[in-house]
Amino acid sequence: MHFTGSAHSARSVLPKPVGSPEDVLVLKGGRPLQGIWRVDGAKNAALPLMVATLLTDGLVTLTNLPGILDVAVLAELLSSLGVEQHWSYAEIGLRATFAGVRVTGQPDPEGVRRMRASFLILGPLMARTGIATVALPGGDAIGSRPVDIHLDGLRALGAEIEMEHGLITARAPTGLKGARYTLGFPSVGATEHLVMTATLAEGRTELINCAREPEVTDLCRLLAAMGAKIDGIGTDRLTIHGGERLGGAVHRTIPDRIEAGTIIVAAAVSGGRVELRGPTLDDLGAAYSLLTATGVRLTEVEGGLIAEADASGLIGTDFVTQPYPGVATDLQPPLMALMLRAAGSARIDETLFENRFRHVDDLRRLGADITVRGRTALVRGVPRLTGAPVRGTDVRAASCLAIAGLMAEGETILEGLDHLDRGHAAFAERLAALGADVTRHGR
Ligand code: UD1
Repeated sequence: MHFTGSAHSARSVLPKPVGSPEDVLVLKGGRPLQGIWRVDGAKNAALPLMVATLLTDGLVTLTNLPGILDVAVLAELLSSLGVEQHWSYAEIGLRATFAGVRVTGQPDPEGVRRMRASFLILGPLMARTGIATVALPGGDAIGSRPVDIHLDGLRALGAEIEMEHGLITARAPTGLKGARYTLGFPSVGATEHLVMTATLAEGRTELINCAREPEVTDLCRLLAAMGAKIDGIGTDRLTIHGGERLGGAVHRTIPDRIEAGTIIVAAAVSGGRVELRGPTLDDLGAAYSLLTATGVRLTEVEGGLIAEADASGLIGTDFVTQPYPGVATDLQPPLMALMLRAAGSARIDETLFENRFRHVDDLRRLGADITVRGRTALVRGVPRLTGAPVRGTDVRAASCLAIAGLMAEGETILEGLDHLDRGHAAFAERLAALGADVTRHGR
C-alpha cells in the first residue's frame, strides 16, 4: 500500500513520542479566562479507534484526532506492526488514514508499558494473525488497574492465554468463537477490547454489563461503519454477530468531554466566560448537574457551549465518581480544583480507582484545606491560594494543578508535563490564548 498526495508520517505531525519530562509550566493566577476553546477529539476515544484499524486490511480514515503524546506512542506501535499511516492537518484536529494490509510482528513492550490503552492491541492482533504477545500495561499511577476482565473475556471467546516475564501471549489456534460473557465490572477498556475481538470471532457474542461511556459507543460506531454487526450500541448489553471480513471506513472522533469539563472548571474558577466549541451539554453526563449545582452557568449554543461563573459565588458540592453517566473519575481532579475556592465544603468519593488523590499533597502546597480518608476527600474552601512548585503525576492531576495555579497568587511552577502532554495538545498555549498568565519552559 502506498499513499499519494500530501502525506505526512505520524512523526512529522504528532509530538515526539518520547515526551518532554524536563519541561515546566510557569503560571500566575488571577486573570479571568475569556474567549474560545476548541475542544480536541477525545483521547479515550481516539486510542481504541486507532487500535480498531488492526482488524481490517481496508483503509480506515479517522478525523478529529488530537495531537497528543498518547496518540503519537500508539501511532508508532501500530506502525511497528505494519499498519501504514498517512497523517495530515485538517481544518479541525488531525486526520489519519490507516492501512493494515500486512499486519505482522508484536508491539514493543516498552511502548505498551507507557500507556494502558495499548493493551487493547492484544485481542485484535490475535484475532487477525492468530497470536499476540503484549506487555502488561502501564499508564497513569492511579491504582492497581488489573486486566483480569480483559483476559477472562478473551478466554470466553476461545483464546489461550499465557503469562511469562510480564508478557501476555494470546493464541487462537483454531480461531475464535462467539460466546456469552458477563463482565464482572463495566470496565471501559475490557468492553472495548472484547467488542473489537468479537467482531472477528465466528458467530454471535453477547457481552453483558458493558461500559456505556460515549467513547465505547464511538468505537462501536466505527466498527459498524467497517461492516460489523453490533446490536445494543450505547447500552450495557452488546451483541456482536462476528466472523465476517471488516472493510474500510471514515469516522470522526467525538469531542473530549474530559477536556471540556477541565476547561469549564478553569473558566469558572477564574470568573471568566469561555465558549467551548465541539461538545454539547449531553456530552458532560452527570457533570452537567454537578457543575450547575456548584454555580457554573452552562448554556448550549450552536456548535458548542458557553461556560461562565462568578468565582466568588461558587458553592462546595459533594460528588461521587461513577461509571457513565455518573461523574467521570477523570474529571475528579479538575472538579476538586473547582471546590478549592467554593464556599463551604465538598465531600468527594472516588469509587473507580484507589489511588486517585495523588494531586492532594500538591494542592495543599498551594494552601488547599483537604482531608483524605481512604477513597473520600473533604475539601474546605479557602479564601486564597498561593503559588508553589508542584508536580503532576498523571494526566488529570497535572491539569488540576494547572487550574489551581491559575487561581493562586504569585508563581506556580508545574512539573510533570510529559503527563499533561499525554492528554492535552498545546495546553499552555491555548490557555494563554484565553488570557491566562502561563508559559512553558524547557529545562
Ligand atoms: C478508561 C480510561 C480512563 C478512565 C477509566 C474509567 C482510556 C484509555 N482510559 O480506563 O481514562 O479513568 O476508563 O472511566 O479509555 N478493572 C478490573 N479488571 C479489569 C479492568 C478494570 O478490576 O480487567 C477495574 C479497574 O481497576 C478500575 C475499574 O475497573 O478500578 C475501571 O477501570 P476501566 O473502566 O477498565 O478503566 P480503563 O479502561 O483502564
